[in-house]
Amino acid sequence: MTNILILVGTESGNAQMVADALKPVLEGAGHAVDVSDKAAGKADLEAHDVLLVICATHGSGDIPTNILPLAETLERERPDLSGHRYGIIALGDMTYQDTFCGGGKKVDRVLELCGAKRVGDRLEVDASTQPLPDEEALTWVEGWKSLV
Ligand SMILES: Cc1cc2nc3c(=O)[nH]c(=O)nc-3n(C[C@H](O)[C@H](O)[C@H](O)COP(=O)(O)O)c2cc1C
Repeated sequence: MTNILILVGTESGNAQMVADALKPVLEGAGHAVDVSDKAAGKADLEAHDVLLVICATHGSGDIPTNILPLAETLERERPDLSGHRYGIIALGDMTYQDTFCGGGKKVDRVLELCGAKRVGDRLEVDASTQPLPDEEALTWVEGWKSLV
């Protein structure tokens, strides 16, 4: 059994919807799963073996405000997360072109800077072609859940 923290970065609820869809799937695979959309601290990350970050993009390639303080803390303090693994589901919209999925890409980079190891490929969900982000995420998690 793996302790997984699903960290939700959202402004308007899509990322939360994805988290709600994935939680029972991961629990069904035998993992213990917590979900947080609050400004989780480093201690929350360190208490879990694996992080699954589901992160929307707002502004111009920006991380949603609910997890921005955490991302900034990690970037500034660079805690040692080398014993931790993570997955990333980035939500975005291709019509934003250069900043597509920028929020999830930034969180991916910050976790890598802290030494965490990404498991599986980053999933990037395009709202302009996929109005139901949980569908793509449910397919992706079938592979990811067996890697963690
Ligand atoms: C004001 C605004 C700005 C956005 N900026 C970007 C962006 O720069 N890049 C991108 O890929 N998507 C952008 N998006 C699309 C959102 O990331 C996408 O709709 C996502 O599914 C929203 O997830 P949420 O409901 O969890 O916040 C933007 C959406 C809004 C409303």
